[in-house]
Parts: sequence; C-alpha cells; structure tokens
Amino acid sequence: MSVQDGRLDFVARGGGSLQGVLQVPGDKSISHRSIMLGSLAEGVTQISGFLEGEDSLATIAAFRAMGVRIAGPDAGAVRIDGVGLHGLREPQGELYLGNSGTSMRLLTGLLCAQRFPTRLTGDASLSRRPMARVADPLRLMGARITTAEAGRPPLLVGGGAKLHGIAYRMPVASAQVKSALLLAGLYAAGRTSVIEPAPTRDHTERMLQGFGYELQREGASVTIEGGGSLRATAIAVPADISSAAFFLVAASIAPGSDLLLCNVGVNPTRVGVINILRAMGADIEMLNPRVSGGEPVADLQVRAAALRGIEIPLDQVPLAIDEFPALFIAAACASGTTVLRGAEELRVKESDRIDAMARGLGELGIVNEPAADGIRIIGGSLGGGRIDSRGDHRIAMAFAVASLRAARPIEILDCANVATSFPGFTGLAGLAGLDIEVRRNEPGGEAQAQC
Ligand code: S3P
Repeated sequence: MSVQDGRLDFVARGGGSLQGVLQVPGDKSISHRSIMLGSLAEGVTQISGFLEGEDSLATIAAFRAMGVRIAGPDAGAVRIDGVGLHGLREPQGELYLGNSGTSMRLLTGLLCAQRFPTRLTGDASLSRRPMARVADPLRLMGARITTAEAGRPPLLVGGGAKLHGIAYRMPVASAQVKSALLLAGLYAAGRTSVIEPAPTRDHTERMLQGFGYELQREGASVTIEGGGSLRATAIAVPADISSAAFFLVAASIAPGSDLLLCNVGVNPTRVGVINILRAMGADIEMLNPRVSGGEPVADLQVRAAALRGIEIPLDQVPLAIDEFPALFIAAACASGTTVLRGAEELRVKESDRIDAMARGLGELGIVNEPAADGIRIIGGSLGGGRIDSRGDHRIAMAFAVASLRAARPIEILDCANVATSFPGFTGLAGLAGLDIEVRRNEPGGEAQAQC
C-alpha cells in the first residue's frame, strides 16, 4: 500500500521486556455512561479519570450540542451541570459520533424518548455497523427510528414518541443493546425488562443505581421502571481493562517482563481476558482489590510466562469481547493450538476482527484458520511484515504488541484511531519497554519519521 492522505502508521521493533508501573487511561464504557447519566441527572456530577479519547469525547460533544454544560475534560476531570431527564434541547444539526458504536447505540435508546428528532451519523467504519439490533426492540417500545439500508447508520430518531415498557429477550449478548433499552426504559410507561443470553458488562446497571435509580436484577434479566429521576453523583472512572489487556499480553509474551498495572477496573463482566490468559498459563496477580464508585478495581501484576494454547471457554467470550485481538497475539506466541468459537460478534466490531487478525497473523507467518464465529491459531515464530489495521484501534495495538516476539519489524498501517480508546498509547508503551515508531504520512508526501 502506498502513502495515503494524512495516515498514521506504526513501525514496531522486536526485543525488549516490559518493566515498571503503569496506569492506562480511563474505561471507555464507563466514561460514555458517566456523560450520559450525568447529563440527565439533577445536580452537578463530577467525574475523575475520564477517558480523553475520541470516542468518549464524541459523547461529550453530543450532549453539549443538546444544551448540557460540560466543563473539561481536564486531566480526566469533568464537571456536568445535569439538565434532568427532560432537559435536553434539540441540537442544531446532526450528531456526529465518529468511530463510536457505544455512543450511537446508547444514544439511540435515550434519544427516541425525547420531544425533538435527531440524526446520528458516524465515520466510514461506524456507518457499516449494524444498528437494527437497537432500532428493532426500541420500535417495539414505540420509538420511531429510520435507518439507512440494511439497518446501517445514519439513524433518524423521531421526536415525541410515547414509549411503553417491553420484556425483550436479546438474540445477541450485547451490553450496548441492553443499555439502549434501559435508557429508553427511563422514559417508558411501565416496566422494561431485558433478558440476556449470557452475562454482558453491567456498567449501566451499576451506574444507574449509583445515580439513585432503582432497578431489579434477577438472574439473566434486568428490569427498570420509567418515571423516576437521576440524582447527580461523583464518579471515579477506573483504568480500562480493555487497554490494560495489551500490556497483560505484552508482559506475558516478552521474556523477563514484570509489570504492575494500577487501578484497573475488574468488574466480573469484563475479566474474561484475565481468566483466558491465566488458563493459558499467564502469571497475573490481582493485588489490592477494592470497590470504587460501585465498580471493582485492582492492581494487576503480570510477569512473563510460557503460554500454552487452549480451547477458549464459550462463557468467557462475552466477558472478553474487545480483548480478542490482543488474545490472538497471546495465542500466536503460545505453544500448541488455541481455538475460539462462538465469537461471530467479532465480525461486526470496528472492523471484521476475525478477518483482520487472521490475515495479519498470516502475514507474520502464524498458521491460522478463521471460521465464521472464531479462529484456530497454531502458536509459532513471528516474522515481520506489513499489516493493515483497517483503521481499527485494537488491531493496531495488538500487532504493536506482537512485535515483542517478532524476528523483524512490523509495519502497521492506518493507526490514527488508536486515539479513539487509548490516547498516548505509543508513549506509555515506550515507557514500558516497547519500541514503536510513529510515522505521520502527509498527503502525497514521503513518510516522515516522528517519535
Ligand atoms: C460496549 C459493549 C460491547 C463492546 C464495546 C463497548 C459498551 O459491545 O464491544 O466496545 O460500552 O457497552 P456489544 O455490547 O455490542 O458487545
């Protein structure tokens, strides 16, 4: 591929081990929700540890466009003057949500109950992602939502709909769908129940309770009743386990590594990556477990270990859904074969992550066999090569980590979207011991080296 318009590429070079003490940026899922609930609450919500990534900044911009006063973020601090559940104002134009599927799906839930209409758009990747999974059940509640062809964005969310509660059995395990319905349920007449086929991240439920909103959780179902109100609160966002995952894998595969990751969110609905890595033989200790603002948090000590391939347990898949790009690198460095099934959702993330990873691993000489719902990876020796990250932040970071065990440099194309979830990734990775050169390719120009 030739140099393209303003593209950002990485060149990651091998060797080295990871040492020291790191704190990765704030949790993306919790950051989004803190803006949404803080905006809809009565009173002032103070947030610390907010993720200053492009995705969560897109959520801030959307609420500002709807008249909410939001100060910051300033070193992770955000102050929101909540407008109450009925205080949002019609935005001047469309709400552009960049790369952020969470913003679009959760916002659709709460916007379909507003008096005014909205139009939600996103970048090329978000414009390819399925939205019928939220639009269909919301329509059952009385929402008026128009999608583009095949249920894709842009979305037109009609105003003035009168919502009523439903009981909805989700066909896919999706925290975004569950959350969209719970947010719509805040406005619906009667009770809204969502039944999950498998546990998914429960940050929305925990945060609603933190804002003083009652809900019932029983087995696989969660029920909310409309007509209440949210009380502003303080929120401390923990470090994102999905960002920590790259370092958990990096320190596991780089001989001699010993790394401490501070203040990581270890909500039981997010710890699949730790469970899977431990089953592969990783040496990860959870130190100083505590609860902060309703979310479990711990420090994670990770030391290099000899990994072995496993069959990834099906029940861990939704609990590690964002961590598979990193886990596939662990599998490539493990002895034996790793098999993943039941993960068809990976095909509709920011990129088709099964295809992107399968091709990238193949380029590095790792034998693998993709399937519709997973992959089989045979551990081996990594060479070097050129990888297309497809503009997917997690694919880019996963292959940067792979370089630790690669015989030759790995060139990773189209990495600008790393800033959606992990601003400062290359700097922090450099401090820990990775060697990643950032190349900013000016339109039509030669590649220019930058550190
Ligand atoms: C998220 C839920 C997950 C995850 C996404 C963030 C959330 O998506 O992949 O990155 O914040 O609710 P699904 O709920 O679609 O699995």
